[in-house]
Amino acid sequence: MSTLFRKKSLASLLTIDSEGGHTLTRTLTATSLVALGIGAIIGAGLFVRTAAAAANNAGPSVTLGFILAGIGCALAGLCYAEFAAMIPVAGSAYTYSYATLGELVAWVIGWDLVLEYALGAATVSIAWSEYLNKLLGYIGYQIPFEWCHSPMEKLMGADGAVLAHGYMNVPALFILFLLSLLLIRGTKESAFVNSVIVITKLAIVVLFIVFGWQFINPANHTPYIPAATTYVDTQGVPHNFGGIWGILGAAGVVFFAFIGFDAVSTAAQEAKNPKRDMPIGILGSLAVCTVLYILFAHVLTGVATVNDFRTAGKEASVAYAIQTYMPGYGWLAKSVTVAILAGFSSVILVMLMGQSRVFYTMSKDGLIPSIFSDLHPKYKTPYKSNLLLFGFIGIFSAFVPGDIVGDMTSIGTLFAFILVCAGVIIMRRTAPDEPRPFHTPLVPLVPILGIITCGLMILGLGWANWLRLGVWLVIGFVIYFSYSIKNSKLNKQ
Ligand code: ALA
Repeated sequence: MSTLFRKKSLASLLTIDSEGGHTLTRTLTATSLVALGIGAIIGAGLFVRTAAAAANNAGPSVTLGFILAGIGCALAGLCYAEFAAMIPVAGSAYTYSYATLGELVAWVIGWDLVLEYALGAATVSIAWSEYLNKLLGYIGYQIPFEWCHSPMEKLMGADGAVLAHGYMNVPALFILFLLSLLLIRGTKESAFVNSVIVITKLAIVVLFIVFGWQFINPANHTPYIPAATTYVDTQGVPHNFGGIWGILGAAGVVFFAFIGFDAVSTAAQEAKNPKRDMPIGILGSLAVCTVLYILFAHVLTGVATVNDFRTAGKEASVAYAIQTYMPGYGWLAKSVTVAILAGFSSVILVMLMGQSRVFYTMSKDGLIPSIFSDLHPKYKTPYKSNLLLFGFIGIFSAFVPGDIVGDMTSIGTLFAFILVCAGVIIMRRTAPDEPRPFHTPLVPLVPILGIITCGLMILGLGWANWLRLGVWLVIGFVIYFSYSIKNSKLNKQ
């Protein structure tokens, strides 16, 4: 029993990067961490999932979903910041829980973070594919439906007839491959590319809010919270639409838009001054995004109708809304499309980086094979891991719809957040005297509220997603008990 709860000592965590040989270089400043955060945060959640949540769950009240999700993230973010400053090493929630809750829980979180980072990257690559098609549309070309959709999707005609079936999502695979290669070249270069993209991304969000505001049609905002009913989408999946369940469901869906601020913490080992910079990186990027999201969702649901988001405007929804309802702003639709493609790339990049860093740490701990921590002799990046992950993530990008991988990402991350919040409370009891450069305020209130808010969003995501999370965790337990428990470095000590 004690094996399952064996813990890494904080001292061993903090000396891990002085081992020599297998180390990552410290190149990131506070500003590059905020940029890294925003790079990871603003992406498909805003430009694709907002419309999906309006269509399937909440109509205009998706903005209330954003507020709830933002509150949940801020609460969890405060808990993340305490850990990130206290244990400034690679691996995010996984590392924190190894020191606080023991190996089994750490494994569960590490395994669960695959849902966040790997499936998050898959979701955004699928959204990238939608906007690429939009861009090609401007020059009169379209990728055939079959080659940019998963086999689980069908193209429906206006009369309800099935016009085409998807085979595989080739553009999604393509962008994943390209970015995996870029990542292998090294973090510093990747962070630079990221900073350029972040500025562009912020600019388009602001431009859409400013120009779109005058095209808000008040009728689209009435009623702001639709009456509760069940909506069955074009692929035959039922959703709770309207009312409180609609808002909770929307919060769970758009929660995706906030994912990434915690990815900053996975780069702790590469930060120049992690104790000061991690809290700034995490909370700073979260604050900027929350305000923009609420305004953006308000404008988007005011400009186009819920029915648009359910039908023709479902894909590349922002560009669609501008083209259809904002005459004279065709240039904006085009630049938004280009900027979104670049913006999504930066999100995928950070997600891929987060995933390979978590695996790097888990592999150093012996919980997964050492191939995941082999560094490239020249670039010093975990290149084998990057390539293996490309293969794994590619399967989801190519063959599963964005809605499914998106919701799996949300539920996996919410679950990890809950464990991190609980970790703060436990750590205050078990290691009260450990230096904490950043204190989560009002413990245990803040972590408890974090647990409740994230729990509500998990409820809102519905049973199909609970089941997917359950299956994923069962697979994780099988691997842990058949491989990791024996190979753990702590076992060998
Ligand atoms: N928050 C990221 C996005 O919305 C994952 O794409």
